[in-house]
Amino acid sequence: MGRISTIFHFIACLVSSLLSCQISAQEVNYHEHIEPIITTHCTRCHQPNNVAPFSLLTYDDISPRAKFIGHVTKTKYMPPFKADATFQHYKNENILTPDEIQLIQDWVAGGIVKGKKNAKKIPDVHAVTSDMASETNHVNHKTESLDIGMQQRFILPEKGKEEFRFFHIPVNNKTEKYIQSIRFIPGNKKLVHHSRVMTDTSGTTAGIDGLSESDTAIYKFQTNPLADPFLFGWVPGNDQIIFPEGTGKKLYPGTDFIFNMHYSPSPIIVSDSSSIRIQFADKPVEREVITLSLKEDNISNLPFLIRANTSPVFYMRSAMTEEDISLISIMPHMHLLGKRFKAFAVSPDGELIPLVNIPDWDFNWQMTYTFKNYIHIPKGSVIYAEAQYDNTSQNPRNPTRPPKDVSYGWGTKDEMMNLIIYYVKYRVGDEKIEL
Ligand code: HEC
Repeated sequence: MGRISTIFHFIACLVSSLLSCQISAQEVNYHEHIEPIITTHCTRCHQPNNVAPFSLLTYDDISPRAKFIGHVTKTKYMPPFKADATFQHYKNENILTPDEIQLIQDWVAGGIVKGKKNAKKIPDVHAVTSDMASETNHVNHKTESLDIGMQQRFILPEKGKEEFRFFHIPVNNKTEKYIQSIRFIPGNKKLVHHSRVMTDTSGTTAGIDGLSESDTAIYKFQTNPLADPFLFGWVPGNDQIIFPEGTGKKLYPGTDFIFNMHYSPSPIIVSDSSSIRIQFADKPVEREVITLSLKEDNISNLPFLIRANTSPVFYMRSAMTEEDISLISIMPHMHLLGKRFKAFAVSPDGELIPLVNIPDWDFNWQMTYTFKNYIHIPKGSVIYAEAQYDNTSQNPRNPTRPPKDVSYGWGTKDEMMNLIIYYVKYRVGDEKIEL
């Protein structure tokens, strides 16, 4: 490009915003344009010894896969983030802008040019993206922590088979404590597909270890209400939850953690020993984090029965809030027949407060969405959720062919409709606090 036209181009770029400025395909290069996108949106998972199957740290990692990267970003398969950011904003939002998607397309079309390294522009990959680094920033090193895991290594009984297994992990704590952060550590990263952590204080779950969800004994355990039916849900990339400054989640005396582990099929016999790391608050916690959990008995159009070859919508609502509250995070939960999920609150004077909208439910990528700021829900509000299920054979994830009637259960072939919300009592100004 000639010097004059380069100057014109530069001015045009200043006039429009930098990214929306039309850079011709030949000019797009890795170091200047692509590396910052990958660093911001991909390498937190795509680096050695992390959850994604390959690293995307360098040009040599990325260039052989450039076309594939163009495909998965255009189809929005990657980065995996399912909540609609036009409905509500989250702290853990990870979405490419249309301009970033286009830049990747142009880069691939223009010949996957490497370009020159520009030290000034590129943030330090490890400092910016490492999840551990952000943990260090938020959580004081001196705080008491607890690393606790499955009591025995679990060996998969069969190869090539997906498994859902339960484990109980006794804490044996005599006093109550406040949790400041929870990190789930999958033992075998290739095997652990996702995990749900619950807590029980009845002391009756010892027999659960290693049981598969299809084991009839599981139904016996299900009849006991749990202290926390959904303390934390782990999926790749959703490694931990850190409660906001000054808040904490109570760990009751005599807690047993329950892990509900989903293992991917493995071509060889392998084993797993997963664990969690709990950091306790070092200062007295002023505001207790409380769980609001909507479940199947909150459904207004019962019975919760999803007949074969239908795509019904179910609605649920909370009781009226008895005080002003500030929401921290939200996690919808369904199984394989889930199609879409939406939740919002309606205040006593009719204001609609958007909470979460997942237009294209993906069983594999359920996560806890932490709000960008506390969401204030006034006293007398009602939280509503609606979920659609697809029990037809057009649903590629439907595990039963031909479809059968499905109702409530812990098994993946059963269904659930849950909404788990963490909140604290409202204080004036909460909505201005970034989480
Ligand atoms: C939250 C963690 C996470 C983030 C962030 C992420 N990935 Fe992935 N990615 C994964 C996992 C896990 C897999 C393997 C499972 C799968 O394919 O669903 C994967 C698979 C892929 C694949 C292979 C897909 C296939 O069908 O085999 C490509 C290509 C890819 N990612 C590119 C990217 C790019 C480019 C970005 C950023 C724009 C990105 N990923 C961000 C976790 C992540």
